Amino acid sequence: MTRSTAPLVREVDVRHRYEILVDEVAAGFTAYRDRDGQRVFFHTEIDDAFAGQGLASVLVQEALTQVRASGKRIVPVCPYVAKFLKKHEEFADITDPVTPEVLQWLETTLAR
Ligand SMILES: CC(C)(COP(=O)(O)OP(=O)(O)OC[C@H]1O[C@@H](n2cnc3c(N)ncnc32)[C@H](O)[C@@H]1OP(=O)(O)O)[C@@H](O)C(=O)NCCC(=O)NCCS
Repeated sequence: MTRSTAPLVREVDVRHRYEILVDEVAAGFTAYRDRDGQRVFFHTEIDDAFAGQGLASVLVQEALTQVRASGKRIVPVCPYVAKFLKKHEEFADITDPVTPEVLQWLETTLAR
C-alpha cells in the first residue's frame, strides 16, 4: 500500500491507548493502564490490512517517547512492547519489571 503521508501517533487518553493513523485511517493501537507513576502496556494490535509494514514499531517508539516526556515509567506486559524494549535500550532507564503484583493489579483493573 502506498502512503501519501507519514503515519501519525496520537494519545487517546479516554480510551487508555495510543493510536496510529495512516492517511487518517486508524491502523492500530497500543493499550495501557496507569498505576501510580507507571504506564502499564498490555496489548498492541495492528489491523491485518496494515501488517508487516513496521507500523507497530513506529507506534510503540512514539508512545514510549511520549511516556518519557510525561515523566512516567513503562511496564511492558505486552509481549510486543517487551520485545521492542529488548532492541531499544534507550528506554531501559524508565522501564520497570513485570511483577506478579503488577499482573494481579492489571487483571483486576481490566475486569472492572
Ligand atoms: C504483533 C503486531 C502488533 C505486529 O504489528 P506489525 O506492524 O506487523 O509489526 P512490525 O512490522 O512493526 O514488527 C514485526 C515484529 O513483530 C514481532 N511480533 C509479531 N507478533 C508478535 C507477538 N505476538 N509478540 C511479540 N512480537 C511479535 C515480529 O516477530 C517482528 O519482529 P522483528 O521486527 O524483530 O522481526 C501485529 O502482528 C498484531 O496485531 N498481532 C495480533 C495481536 C498480537 O499478537 N499483539 C502482540 C501481543 S499483545
